[in-house]
Amino acid sequence: MLALGRQFFLWASENKWLEKQLTERAFTRRAVQRFLPGESLEDAVGASEVLRERGIKSILTQLGENVSEGHDADAVAEHYLSVLDLINERQLDADVSLKPTQFGLDMGLDEAQSRIERIVRRAGSLRRLVAIDMESSAYVSTTIELYKRLRSEHSNVALCLQAYLHRTASDVVSLLPLSPTIRLVKGAYKEPGNIVFTKKRDVDANFLRLAGTLLQEVKQGNARVFFGTHDPRMISGVSERAKKLGLKKNSFEIQMLYGIQGETQARLASKGYVVRSLISYGESWYPWYMRRLAERPANVFFLAKNLFKR
Ligand code: FDA
Repeated sequence: MLALGRQFFLWASENKWLEKQLTERAFTRRAVQRFLPGESLEDAVGASEVLRERGIKSILTQLGENVSEGHDADAVAEHYLSVLDLINERQLDADVSLKPTQFGLDMGLDEAQSRIERIVRRAGSLRRLVAIDMESSAYVSTTIELYKRLRSEHSNVALCLQAYLHRTASDVVSLLPLSPTIRLVKGAYKEPGNIVFTKKRDVDANFLRLAGTLLQEVKQGNARVFFGTHDPRMISGVSERAKKLGLKKNSFEIQMLYGIQGETQARLASKGYVVRSLISYGESWYPWYMRRLAERPANVFFLAKNLFKR
């Protein structure tokens, strides 16, 4: 039943008709506010300032994907340059995270690379990190190639890898010679069963296996690692493995989404873990929000509750 719900919302995330219907409805807009401090950059910056007071760092990301016009992708790049300047001006403890298809990856790797590299350079001059999100499996090879190119020139770039993909263990091996910075997540897209672990327990086991490998590399000084998860079992599994390796609590980051497990985020930060909250903003929230609904039935009940609010 749960798996069916997940499949439905992943299907809905790609359905343009449903997108038009739902984004116009007030109840959806109200429900999405739980995960989105607002649609504007200023809303995201305000949320980052509040988090900073709770000892939580942040990552800013403007929602949007599969941009198909060069001038629109250029505008996204300009926007992120201004985000970095604002982060610097307001002295936020914040990085940025980017989706390659928002920078024109569908028009070619070189196109996306040149736009993203401008952002990486500006971020480097301001001592900030640029994380590259991982999108659906059709983009994994090109996104890894993009990361390898960027990482060979710049140290301030991170790459997200997804534990649900069978290929990820070998991708980690191929990335290690670059001393990578990796954000490990479970994976959020609708994928064919032959390339992913389909059972949650297998995804979890692979997440912890990959976490172990990456933490070993952290210990050797050969990688940095962030764990993007709200799952208490993953978080305790990761911290136990780190402890066994003699790593300090601050030798990795725990990253969560804004609006999810807020109390846990604050508690972990107060215990000495480095916690970073990913704050999304912008108008193109529909596919992203559907993926959040796919992740957790409670989010669907929250949406349903808003249906009856005035
Ligand atoms: P999972 O969904 O397996 O749930 C396990 C447990 O975690 C639940 O039982 C509950 O206890 C807790 N939990 C999970 N979601 C919760 C919620 N909404 N509210 C309360 N508790 C909850 N994906 C991707 O494909 N590419 C990417 O680039 C990224 N980037 C990214 C960055 C960051 C910072 C995060 C946190 C996540 C991503 N993701 C992602 C999403 C990721 O792949 C995954 O879909 C979600 O994090 C959900 O998986 P979890 O590991 O959180 O737990």
